[in-house]
Amino acid sequence: MNMIYGIMAAMPEEIEGVVKLVENPEVKIIGGREYIVGCIHGKKVIVVFSRWGKVAAASTVTTLIDVFHVNQIVFTGIAGGIQSDLKVGDIVIASRCVFHDMDTRPLNDRYVVPLINKKYFDVHVADGLLENLKEIFSSKNIGDVVGDDWAKQFNLNSVLVVNRAIASGDQFVNSQEARNDIKVNLSEVACVEMEGAAVAQICFEHDIPCTIVRTISDSADHSAAIDFEPFAKYVASNYSIAIISALLSD
Ligand code: ADE
Repeated sequence: MNMIYGIMAAMPEEIEGVVKLVENPEVKIIGGREYIVGCIHGKKVIVVFSRWGKVAAASTVTTLIDVFHVNQIVFTGIAGGIQSDLKVGDIVIASRCVFHDMDTRPLNDRYVVPLINKKYFDVHVADGLLENLKEIFSSKNIGDVVGDDWAKQFNLNSVLVVNRAIASGDQFVNSQEARNDIKVNLSEVACVEMEGAAVAQICFEHDIPCTIVRTISDSADHSAAIDFEPFAKYVASNYSIAIISALLSD
């Protein structure tokens, strides 16, 4: 089968980074979003900035599937760290995704998606991705990926790459209370963001594999907004270039 990759990112900066890799780009605008059609490392891709949140992500992934007939989704973005062994700059490849704001009690258990009756959506891990990213981020000087000044500023020296669960919701998590609620009630969740579970649910319903990769930008606590902005602006773009290259080069 000819693979067509739908590549989505949650930040404009990340899209700018990935768009630089696209050969012969052509732009199609649908629903206010720019879908950039072309090739990366000889593979057919459609690259798009989904915008923030579950609705934005779900509508974008549906367009990728229905209009562009992609057969593999890749989502890269940043996330707030929940588990205490993760620090800014570490990478989480999703093993499965859950909505931390889904709550239809007493009709269903907390977090369970009604009618589908699922709490977690399993996510595909692209072949070799975990090993490739471990190799890239451990063998390379991280300054070569993001620039020496930013590596120093964010103390990025040893990048941990893990395969764990991710929680999503329409909320920028930036209080100890909200962070603790996830940490205590969804103890296997490594990090929190705003789109992954929506992408995973749509892909599950269409039987299309999706790979979700998140870089930790903050600790989802009171300092989250301070760390988030410069990380998103100066570091995330270079991470996404490294992640997408690792995925698409054989
Ligand atoms: N993306 C990056 N940091 C986040 C946070 N703290 N909450 C939700 N989404 C995020």
